[in-house]
Amino acid sequence: MDLLIINASELVTVAGGSQKPVTGRQMRELGIVRNGGLAVKDGKIVAVGKTAEVTKAFKAENIINANGKTVLPGFVDPHTHMIFAGSREDEFQMRIEGASYMEILSAGGGILKTVRETRRASVEKLVELGIETLNVMLEHGTTTAEAKSGYGLTTKDELKILQVIQRVNQLHAVDVVPTFMGAHALPPEFQGSTQTYVDLVVNEMIPRIAEKNLAEFCDVFCEKGVFGLEQSRRILAVGRNCGLKLKVHADEMSPLGGAELAADFGAASADHLLFASDEGIEAMAEKGVVAVLLPAAAFSLMSGHYADARVMINRGVAVALGTDLNPSCFAENQQLVVAFACHLMRLTPAEAIIAATINAAHAICRAGEIGSLEVGKKADVIVLDVPNHKFLGYCLGVNVVDKVVKNGRVVVDKEAQRGEFPILKE
Ligand code: NIG
Ligand code: FE
Repeated sequence: MDLLIINASELVTVAGGSQKPVTGRQMRELGIVRNGGLAVKDGKIVAVGKTAEVTKAFKAENIINANGKTVLPGFVDPHTHMIFAGSREDEFQMRIEGASYMEILSAGGGILKTVRETRRASVEKLVELGIETLNVMLEHGTTTAEAKSGYGLTTKDELKILQVIQRVNQLHAVDVVPTFMGAHALPPEFQGSTQTYVDLVVNEMIPRIAEKNLAEFCDVFCEKGVFGLEQSRRILAVGRNCGLKLKVHADEMSPLGGAELAADFGAASADHLLFASDEGIEAMAEKGVVAVLLPAAAFSLMSGHYADARVMINRGVAVALGTDLNPSCFAENQQLVVAFACHLMRLTPAEAIIAATINAAHAICRAGEIGSLEVGKKADVIVLDVPNHKFLGYCLGVNVVDKVVKNGRVVVDKEAQRGEFPILKE
């Protein structure tokens, strides 16, 4: 064997949800093995069970002793806008002082400010920034992340961002799953003619991107004042025809019917959903559309409003969690998202863990390879410096990751790096 992880006080397998997203009461079943262990060979998990069984059957030189610690599948982040240049701390202050997200966007700020900065940035610069972001995500336990384009809004710049995503995926240990989101905002050159921009998206951008195989998903910001239902429908239809799987930014700021739209198209996910209607939630449950909830984004909007995760779970919708990392929601850390989900949407730690692992994997159509600790899956494993899984969500604002194993390789080891702690006075 290449690696054994042994003596985990809790080995949280999240087993059993690879075929279908986990729903309802099943979201409380984590498949915990106490005093658990697992064995890794060639980057894959080859055994999971009690430490005694694993150590009897397998030997390895490289052993992680997870005594007193909790072992989990690496977090999957199914919704990020991680490739961008610049920052928006001034707008953050404006929002604190009462300006709304939509007011800032309408005045040419928000996404459009980031578009200006991202258009000016070179591929090399964006790759460098992307790698730094992935480092932070990995340190916090994320081993696979989705990444959307959408700060280019010209064919050339959208292609540039998707090439950056491809490049960082090649370079960095974290696996990055590409989504085309040319319909993220109306670029200034097209002010007053949304239709003409949608023409460009469907006639030029989507076919070019599909032909070059630069994206796996197509997403659209379906929102009042951005892209309406009919425009979103056109974009999704062409995306689907070109072989892309679908996602929708749905019902984030107003109840427009985005959840119903995602269900109509059998999208992989509908995301945000703060204002999703009852009918939309029913339709998502029926069609098996995963609800990707983004409480850090809702938190950063400062409206005090959150998606109704409890209603969704009660109605049988599979709930997943993501960061929505972007310049207005500067959050790389899925542990923080789990804590927000517990505190603000009343998910239990078990439900939030399912949502940030196996259901998140379903939201990006990767549940056959990642999202749980089961034989045959990638050895993407995190060791947490807490005695049981209930500390996730409970611990606020600290990084409890001790080790990260990606494809069977130890890529983060805080215990080894800790050095001279504790630093005493003398
Ligand atoms: O998911 N809602 C639209 N897009 C992002 C925000 C992007 C940005 O503000 O730069 C979101 O919230
Ligand atoms: Fe988003």
